[in-house]
Amino acid sequence: MYTSNSIEARKSNKGPVIAIDGPAGAGKSTVAKAVARIFGLAYVSTGLVYRALTLKAIRLGVDVQEAEFIVTLAENTEVAVVPDGGECRVLLDGEDVTAELTCPEVGACVSQVAKIPKVRAALLDIQRAIANRGCVVMDGRDIGTVVVPDADVKIFLVADLDERVRRRVIQARERGYDVVEETIIREIMNRDKIDSGRKVAPLKPAPDSITIDTTGKTPEETIMEVAGVIYEILSDNGIKNASGGKGDTPCFT
Ligand code: DC
Repeated sequence: MYTSNSIEARKSNKGPVIAIDGPAGAGKSTVAKAVARIFGLAYVSTGLVYRALTLKAIRLGVDVQEAEFIVTLAENTEVAVVPDGGECRVLLDGEDVTAELTCPEVGACVSQVAKIPKVRAALLDIQRAIANRGCVVMDGRDIGTVVVPDADVKIFLVADLDERVRRRVIQARERGYDVVEETIIREIMNRDKIDSGRKVAPLKPAPDSITIDTTGKTPEETIMEVAGVIYEILSDNGIKNASGGKGDTPCFT
């Protein structure tokens, strides 16, 4: 039986918050989107918040190493994440920039932006406001440790480097980007180092999270495993999906 530390606070009102953390390429977004659909919850990728700010810096020609400038930018930027039919859209100062956020240019420097402590502080409220509405699956790096330490279920996904690289190459090519495997290896290793080594909110499993290794598993196998864990925790703790579920097909009642 799994336990959770926030059940009493949430079960009476807003519906569950599920945190799915892990390194790049571990399968977070695929799994998070699928379990959101299964349980009738909204899905939010918190990395998009950091990506939106990074996009703004790139557009303005700002060097992402210029921490002070990036902090000023963060404090003067409006980022809204809008769950939308099982996906999520991002508005940057009111403009829908969703399609641009997965481009290689943003991917190459987003970790530099995300490691700046004051940037993280500036972007925390947006993420907590999403969690406070409940009925959501959020993926990221520090959801279970910092953003929603009282999340109802915390999953930490991991996978071997080779497999994460292979998945990222396929994903980028499917999106129409002409990527070289060596570049992706370097980029993932660099992101792992920055995400895990930063002083504030480093990538690490919450003590009460459940780690699942997705290496060698199909997406369907991982989705069923994670959905099983979530179902067990929510059932054991008597949590029901609140009526405000924003996913496509609510089926956890
Ligand atoms: O999940 P992603 O690849 O879109 O994340 C982009 C970057 O944002 C990644 O380098 C780590 C950072 N990030 C973070 O620091 N905290 C989060 N909750 C989500 C993402």
